[in-house]
Amino acid sequence: NSLVLLHSLQGGVRVELVLLSIPEDPKTSAGFDEKELQKEKTGEKAERIEDNTSPDDPVKEAKEHFPPPNPQLLLTDAVFETVTIGSLPSLHFLNETVFEKTISEREDTEKILSSSKEQKSDLISGVYEGGLKVWECTYDLLEQIENNGETFRDKAVLDLGCGAGLLGILALKRGARQVHFQDYNSTVIEQLTVPNVILNCQEDEEGEKNDIQGRDGCEKEVEEIGNPPPKKRATDMPQHTLLRRCFFFSGNWRTFLPLVLTKEPQPKFDIIFTSETIYNTAYYPALHEALQKLLASNGLVYLATKSHYFGVGGGLHLFETFVKEKGVFSLDHLWDGEEGLQRHVVVLRFKKYV
Ligand SMILES: C[S@@+](CC[C@H](N)C(=O)[O-])C[C@H]1O[C@@H](n2cnc3c(N)ncnc32)[C@H](O)[C@@H]1O
Repeated sequence: NSLVLLHSLQGGVRVELVLLSIPEDPKTSAGFDEKELQKEKTGEKAERIEDNTSPDDPVKEAKEHFPPPNPQLLLTDAVFETVTIGSLPSLHFLNETVFEKTISEREDTEKILSSSKEQKSDLISGVYEGGLKVWECTYDLLEQIENNGETFRDKAVLDLGCGAGLLGILALKRGARQVHFQDYNSTVIEQLTVPNVILNCQEDEEGEKNDIQGRDGCEKEVEEIGNPPPKKRATDMPQHTLLRRCFFFSGNWRTFLPLVLTKEPQPKFDIIFTSETIYNTAYYPALHEALQKLLASNGLVYLATKSHYFGVGGGLHLFETFVKEKGVFSLDHLWDGEEGLQRHVVVLRFKKYV
């Protein structure tokens, strides 16, 4: 066994990769490809979205998921990355490339792992809504949180369309009272979101990982440093206190809303994050209703998005028009990116609180 660290700096975003309990030759046996990873982080690799211009709002019955009694077992042989943005706590998440390469070993009752691989698509409307990878607007939103100094202490947070869950995980690590994670696909919640939360919970119980953070990571670099020290072994960790503040749901927004509203006390969120979720106009009514019913009266929705999603047709302009017509929320631009395919971070709040 060996531990490999890979890290690089792009703008203010630092990305590291850690492999735990890997076989002798990680490149051939796990199929791990550093170049692919770097391309993704620099945005060179565009998303592969299936061409589907008139999809209906799909029905996918919502369900609550509970972490298993020994959640750390989910991290056996985990290969993960770390992203560090400014002074934000480091965030860890399972590496997507390795995830793809180990599909055959994973439980996939929805068959989304195999479908997305077969169809070479990062999004298949109504089947797989893209949660297995970290989309780039998530990083934009993390940077805006860093710039804004948003505090999460004692707040109730919802990561809507969470995928890997980095936004909710950040809130959790910054002291949120509770964090709800929702994704369309149960496989995403079980195979990715829950393991990622556990990955980050264990660090918190040990304190920040200075051994990784202390390295000067300007150049991409791969290091072999022998057996992982005991504190890096994911399977040795105690039960996780942070995990008790988390709630996990899968299903479409239309059925998620009534399910989450059956909870006592009924949740109202101070902050709702939603990143790269407005690509499909057919989903706008359900999304808008969920935001309207779940946001606390003086709460904020942070939405990160591209201007336009080719293949599915939605984007910020259409969503802004929809929001304006509804007349419930005001929408302000927090950040507008200029490069390439334009990206934005906007904030929604109830009009009466403007
Ligand atoms: C492109 S992924 C983005 C994932 C993650 N937020 C990110 O930025 O990396 C879109 C997410 O929105 C969620 N989503 C999209 N349409 C949905 C719908 N109709 N009902 C419920 N969730 C939906 C999916 O769960 C999916 O993870």
